[in-house]
Amino acid sequence: MENNHNFYLPRTNLIGVGSIKDLPNELLPMKLSKALIVTDKNIISLGYAEQVEKILDNLFIAHDIFDGIVHPNPTVSFVEDGLTYCDQGLLDFTIDYSMIISIGGGSNHDCAKAIAAVATNGGSIIDYEGWNKVAKPIIPLICVNTTAGSGAELTMTAIITDNTRKVKMTVASPLMTPWISVNDPLFMGSMPREVTASSGIDVACHAIEAFFSTESSPITDALCLGALEIVFEYLPRAYENGYDLEAREKMMYANFMAASAFNSAGLGYVHALAHQLGGHYNTAHGSNNTVLMPHVLEYNAPAIPEPRLIKICEPLGKSVRSRTEALAALIDSFKELSSSVGLPESLVEMGARYEDIETMAQNALKDIVSLNNPRKGTLEDVIGIYEQAM
Ligand SMILES: [Fe+2]
Repeated sequence: MENNHNFYLPRTNLIGVGSIKDLPNELLPMKLSKALIVTDKNIISLGYAEQVEKILDNLFIAHDIFDGIVHPNPTVSFVEDGLTYCDQGLLDFTIDYSMIISIGGGSNHDCAKAIAAVATNGGSIIDYEGWNKVAKPIIPLICVNTTAGSGAELTMTAIITDNTRKVKMTVASPLMTPWISVNDPLFMGSMPREVTASSGIDVACHAIEAFFSTESSPITDALCLGALEIVFEYLPRAYENGYDLEAREKMMYANFMAASAFNSAGLGYVHALAHQLGGHYNTAHGSNNTVLMPHVLEYNAPAIPEPRLIKICEPLGKSVRSRTEALAALIDSFKELSSSVGLPESLVEMGARYEDIETMAQNALKDIVSLNNPRKGTLEDVIGIYEQAM
């Protein structure tokens, strides 16, 4: 019986309040002399980039900043703009001695991964859409995370919007895994409330989808259940007070756990369908997920074994005895959490249009994250999920 599960994580993960102070010790033995910081203007105004620049200065590592990422979704053109810093040699950028340091949330890390991959593999990031198309190692990538979160600081995946097709491409390869991740809550205090909500609910979505994935394993199950317990308790606290360091730190751990799980187990239709909304309307990823989740759960439920539906209710503090009770408890708890942090309830509310549904459904079924969904849907099924969520 063949039933293997592969795990890929950054070689070093610095976690906890004050963990940024350990970054110099990790960079020193790498003996790299040049760095491109990939970030956005907001991160610079918050002073986070300056903190990293000081670390680089102390290590005599030359550096430049690409700050051209505009949220919420990184595009092919951002990647191409970032690549000019390599191509034009603004730092006399010698790839063999260089690293990329992304500072920010998922958009910045994904853009940095794409830049790091194309810099060594050539061509365009569009050439690498799908699974395992990246053949050469990427430029060493260090991700300093400021949200909790997409998990992009540790995963092998970059989600990049191709505006010409209105598609959020999934580019996934073990070679895209960052070398070092830093999750220091001191970089998260000033995260806006809406970002706290959207990125925080994404953590719950990662845990739920990875738990029900066809590629789940005992390791990912434990990570998912642990992450859910934390998110349901601490996301409302982090949302209410962004400077609640305990809540921020707990959410950071939940983010790490859920992302580690989906990096191995994969995701499902919530993410596959959500990616298309981001591609069409440039809406926030977590908001897309939160609206879709109850409808995808309803759709998937017949294909999920009853004990697993019951099990996932444990970290929510719900005692249930049957499939029906479990599904209702899971959906109700999720909706309650989502509304407690001010997230939308319908796709119409977010600007989605009925005339786009068929195209989005077709593209969702082509998205590689749909492969591990527990129930295999037809085009009509996926159209039906979108319509339910309108
Ligand atoms: Fe996500």
